[in-house]
This record gives sequence, C-alpha cells and structure tokens, in this order.
Amino acid sequence: MEWGMKNRLSRLIQPDGKALFLPIDHGYFQGPTTKLEKPGETIKPIVQYADALMLTRGVLRNCIKANIEKPIILRVSGGSSVVGEDLANETIITSIEEIIRLNASAVSMSIFVGSKYENQTLKNLARLVDECEEYGIPVMAVTAVGRELEKRTARYLGLCCRIAAELGARVVKTYYCEKDFNKVVNGCPVPVVIAGGPKVGSQLEVFEFVYDGLQQGAIGVNLGRNIWQTQNPVAAIRAIRAIIHDNYTAQEANELFNKLIAEKD
Ligand code: R5P
Repeated sequence: MEWGMKNRLSRLIQPDGKALFLPIDHGYFQGPTTKLEKPGETIKPIVQYADALMLTRGVLRNCIKANIEKPIILRVSGGSSVVGEDLANETIITSIEEIIRLNASAVSMSIFVGSKYENQTLKNLARLVDECEEYGIPVMAVTAVGRELEKRTARYLGLCCRIAAELGARVVKTYYCEKDFNKVVNGCPVPVVIAGGPKVGSQLEVFEFVYDGLQQGAIGVNLGRNIWQTQNPVAAIRAIRAIIHDNYTAQEANELFNKLIAEKD
C-alpha cells in the first residue's frame, strides 16, 4: 500500500484498529434534517469525541472551520431527494480535483444493490475507486437501502458489503442486523463500520447493537442520528466511544451515559 493511502487510513482507523465516524451528510437528500438545521452548531460539543467527520462539500465549506483537526470523509454521491422519484438514482457529484482541493482524508458514496439503479451505482463506485486510488484516497462504500429498511438482513447486507469490497472500497459502511451479523463481516475482506439508521427507542438499544456489532467483527461505527438527534448527544457519543475504544459493554456504556447526564444536571 502506498504511503499516502496508509497515512489517510491511519487517520481514520485508530491505532487500536477501531473507528468512530460522525456523519452529518443527511441533508444531501433529506434537506434540513431535524437537529441538523445548522450542522456547524450541531457538531460543536460532540466532534471532539469522533475520529472523523462525514459530510458534503457544501456543509464543509460553509459550516466547518478550516482549522478542524478531525479528518474529513467527503460524501461524493447524490443527485436524488426524499421527494424525488427514486433515492437510488445517484451519481458522483464531486470531482477528484475538488476532493483533493478540500483535503479529504477519504470519500464516501452509496451503492443500491438490487435496485433499478444497481448497475449505475456500482459503476459509480468502480469509477470513483479508479480515480481516488490514483491519489491514495480511500473510498468508503455505503450499502444504502433507501426507504426499504426491511432489507437489512445478513444475506442482503453480506451481498452488498462483499460486492463493495470486490469493486475496491477500502472500508464499507453497512447496517447492523440481529441475526448472523458475523456473516456480513466475515464475508467482507475490508473493514466494516455500522450505521445507525433512524433514531431508535432507547439509548441502551444503540449501545447494545454497537457492542454486539463490534463483538462480531465490525471495527466501529458511522453513526449520526442516534447521536445528534438524541436528548443528550455528548453523553451518547462519549458512551459509544467507550464501547469502541475502551472495551465497555453495552451495560457499562449505559451506566456511563446516565452518570454523564446526572453530572450535567
Ligand atoms: C445516509 O445515507 C447517510 O449517508 C448517513 O451517513 C448514514 O446513514 C449514517 O447515519 P445514521 O447513523 O444517521 O443512519
């Protein structure tokens, strides 16, 4: 592996082999998502606990200070919206020159396996990998399900992750699933991180799926709404960080979470 690629990956994946990515890219298809109306304000108290920040160039340029120390994962696919015909109809929306100009440590883009736009989005990935590898920039593939959240089974996610890795993604983001998540990770030859999806009922549930996902081989998370849409984003991200980097169990993380909230009050 080239030095530049190694250097960028080592900024994202920490010396313990784990990673906590904080995505705030949701506006690229959802518009001003709840609690992300002013992304710069949303991340102020929590970004220090993340290993990297994932976002689009528009939010990066307009809402994030250029002296930020966290590595940037630039979301470079898009072109569809929640009110449009099909969320899967994505293209690459940022040039390689812009990726380099913005000093991105990595890029991310979505693939929609099994959708009408499967071929298009897989070709997007292959082309992006070709361009980014030339400059030592890792590509993180996002195995997107659009509105079809029920697609989150080990069989489907395993298929998506493997295809993404075969096409050259250096990291794959997927969803956690309760049954056979280890098969998703074991069938994927590159590191896997877990996304959260829509906000779940209790914070303990989040700690449980993060803990379980890590036990089954994921290296960390790319988790947004279940952090910054919650009542206590700082306590939430600190507890998740403790699971990822300090080997806390879900229960221990929950205790830390409650302690941090009590201290705040
Ligand atoms: C959605 O596709 C976005 O790319 C998010 O980055 C991703 O889903 C992770 O965020 P969340 O944990 O809110 O699902």
